[in-house]
Amino acid sequence: MTATDLPASLIRTLPGQYYTDPAVFSLEQTRVFEAMWTCAVRSADLPAPGAFRKVQVGRESVLVVRGRDGQLRAFLNICRHRGAQICTEDAGEVKRALQCPYHAWTYDLSGKLVAAPNLTKMPDVDRDRYGLVPVHLREWLGYAWVCLADEPPSFEDDVQGAIAERLGDLAVIDRYELDALSVGRRITYDVAANWKLIVENFMECYHCATIHPELTEVLPEFADGYAAQYFVGHGAEFGEEVRGFTVDGSEGFDKLPGVEDDQDRRYYAITVKPTVFVNLVPDHVIFHRMYPLSADRTIVECDWLYSREVVESGKDVSRSVELFHRVNEQDFAACERTQPAMSSRAYADGGVLVPSEHHIGAFHDWLTRRLAG
Ligand code: FES
Ligand SMILES: [Fe+2]
Repeated sequence: MTATDLPASLIRTLPGQYYTDPAVFSLEQTRVFEAMWTCAVRSADLPAPGAFRKVQVGRESVLVVRGRDGQLRAFLNICRHRGAQICTEDAGEVKRALQCPYHAWTYDLSGKLVAAPNLTKMPDVDRDRYGLVPVHLREWLGYAWVCLADEPPSFEDDVQGAIAERLGDLAVIDRYELDALSVGRRITYDVAANWKLIVENFMECYHCATIHPELTEVLPEFADGYAAQYFVGHGAEFGEEVRGFTVDGSEGFDKLPGVEDDQDRRYYAITVKPTVFVNLVPDHVIFHRMYPLSADRTIVECDWLYSREVVESGKDVSRSVELFHRVNEQDFAACERTQPAMSSRAYADGGVLVPSEHHIGAFHDWLTRRLAG
């Protein structure tokens, strides 16, 4: 069946192979994840000089390190001698230097080669040239974003542009002051599904009435299945009886100080392609980062960000966290239920998108254009 055989209400999704084929995933690694900005770490997770965190970006292991000067830097996690991974732990802290565990080549926190056995007998070895390979890094919203491309795409267009396009104005997100917020809870989900199923799921609300009973209680307009959250500038309004964005609609916390009245009692969802989702509510922010590991496995790290006062005073955030934690579990279970069908003959030509999902077609067009180079 070709696209022209479809009734006007329906458009095709990508064929199933896009969600299973290692060759497609490998192309995505080079043309999407290694070419675009990836949100790597929460800057505050690296509080002191020597703190590091390792993240997977496309095929590369990347180290983000806080230097003695307080600056964050990113490097490929590869020793310049014979390629051993410098850090094997996901996170940690070194005193002054990163030392390769193989032959002990040692790099300072700015990546320069500073010591190696017998290095003084090799005066012709340039210590900068044999330093760790740097990776582009930008800090925004309290996160460090990295890009492996030699010439990164414009951060303003790709990352900030996506948020401005959704909210109508970049200044709207500034009011939540994400960089000043603290992590009240972090949950990591290991999802047995292709990263695109997770993106597509986040982009539509056709499923909300079926699988999100708690969310549709709080946001009644989500129950009608229309992706109102994707109209520029629109935030879904809390139900009349709802007191806060919590699992039972009970009281949340004071709204963040910069949030204006027209944003109060509203929920905004933003997709920053390829791997970030931001959810804004008056008293907190839920921030998702995805790390696609293979065609059928994606790690999702989700942060619940609150004002420093809420976190430091030890207030109970559990009812607030529980709402989106359930939404995550409901969504990821749906994605995992869908993944096996991607290799079925029933899905060889793909499935279909109903009108309230048609905007997902733009995501597919974007992806196929990128993969075509
Ligand atoms: S591979 Fe790192 S010191 Fe030899
Ligand atoms: Fe959902």
